[in-house]
Amino acid sequence: MDYFKSEKQKKDYFFRENRKAEHIDQFLQLEDEASTGLEDVKFIHHFCPETAWDEIDTTVSFCGKLGSKCSEKDKIAYPILIDAMTGGTEQAVAINRTLAQAAKEFSIPMALGSFAAGLENNDLWRTYQVAREENPNGILIGNIGAHASKKDAEITVEALEADCLEIHFNCPQELFMPEGDRNFSGMVENVLEIASALPIPVIVKEVGFGMMGEEVAAFYQAGIRGFDVGGYGGTNFIQIEKERSRKLKRKDLQLSDEILFDNWGNTTAHSIVEARAAAPDGLIIGSGGVRHGLEIAKTIALGSDLAGQAGVLLKALLQRGEKALFNVLEQEIRELKIAMMMLGAKNIEELKKKEILIFGDLYHTLSLRDLRPERFARREK
Ligand SMILES: Cc1cc2nc3c(=O)[nH]c(=O)nc-3n(C[C@H](O)[C@H](O)[C@H](O)COP(=O)(O)O)c2cc1C
Repeated sequence: MDYFKSEKQKKDYFFRENRKAEHIDQFLQLEDEASTGLEDVKFIHHFCPETAWDEIDTTVSFCGKLGSKCSEKDKIAYPILIDAMTGGTEQAVAINRTLAQAAKEFSIPMALGSFAAGLENNDLWRTYQVAREENPNGILIGNIGAHASKKDAEITVEALEADCLEIHFNCPQELFMPEGDRNFSGMVENVLEIASALPIPVIVKEVGFGMMGEEVAAFYQAGIRGFDVGGYGGTNFIQIEKERSRKLKRKDLQLSDEILFDNWGNTTAHSIVEARAAAPDGLIIGSGGVRHGLEIAKTIALGSDLAGQAGVLLKALLQRGEKALFNVLEQEIRELKIAMMMLGAKNIEELKKKEILIFGDLYHTLSLRDLRPERFARREK
């Protein structure tokens, strides 16, 4: 209470609907300039690719790779996931409707934002359910935090008729949120319990700080098959939460240097390599600052099955309108196909094996982690 001018200010601040709306406001003000590591990746050009444009197959197995508990929906048309963003606010109705229309149009999966607001208030379910209404047969993914209970997970899945459930880990974000969680122990066990209780597969997810292999391996060995790496270099929730809480002037959130933790995290490129090494047959979603079709191709050559995108799509929609969202997806699919064509990759499995050169910080990072960046330049046949 001490940090708020009134009870009303406190209530407004902690009200989850306001938080979700503020995330979008702050997100739109973020500058788009961090390194995802993808700029350290370069494809080796093939001068005789032996491919024709019409032969290129961009489909990917999605549900099938997540294990036996998944529905019969499997193939998606392009290796792109519209990743978790919103739900719980009036603004979310329009956003989720349009994102679901895009998911349907392009036959790609879509994740909804955290269902936390829905768990607190049933009246808000419609702000998420609109996505299912728009795309009744598409792959729709629910989203909850790793603190959630089994019951919360079951309610989420049922309310959304979800095909899979993303469970997000977001410790850095929570620590920069005045109202955030401060206890992260026991969460691995909690997630595994949820996964074993649900009739659909679980995808373990980060929200922009990336993943390390040892932790992915622990989940993989316990039976989790889906990992959305949410790497560093795109939307940055430390920056978003710092801006949100700045107005409170709380001493317990002040840092010796404002930007002290602004580059915390494993880049997207690094995280993909970590995750793939730890989960050889898992479904790896390469997300975090993926900006265009060439970067989608790079995430795949590094080891992901598909790319996840949040910020780029939300910015297109909110700053330039619905048509822009569809144009961005269309354009990046064309860019992906151009890259595949020039590489002689007829399908996504072939793209995964294409030679890449890894330079700079990414090279050093992978070397230090014994992830052997050289092997990407000389693939084993
Ligand atoms: C406005 C906004 C809200 C988000 N809300 C959630 C959320 O509720 N749950 C979650 O797991 N991730 C959430 N994310 C994180 C994204 O799903 C994604 O992991 C992250 O933004 C990195 O991808 P990007 O750089 O393409 O945005 C949100 C992202 C944005 C931009």
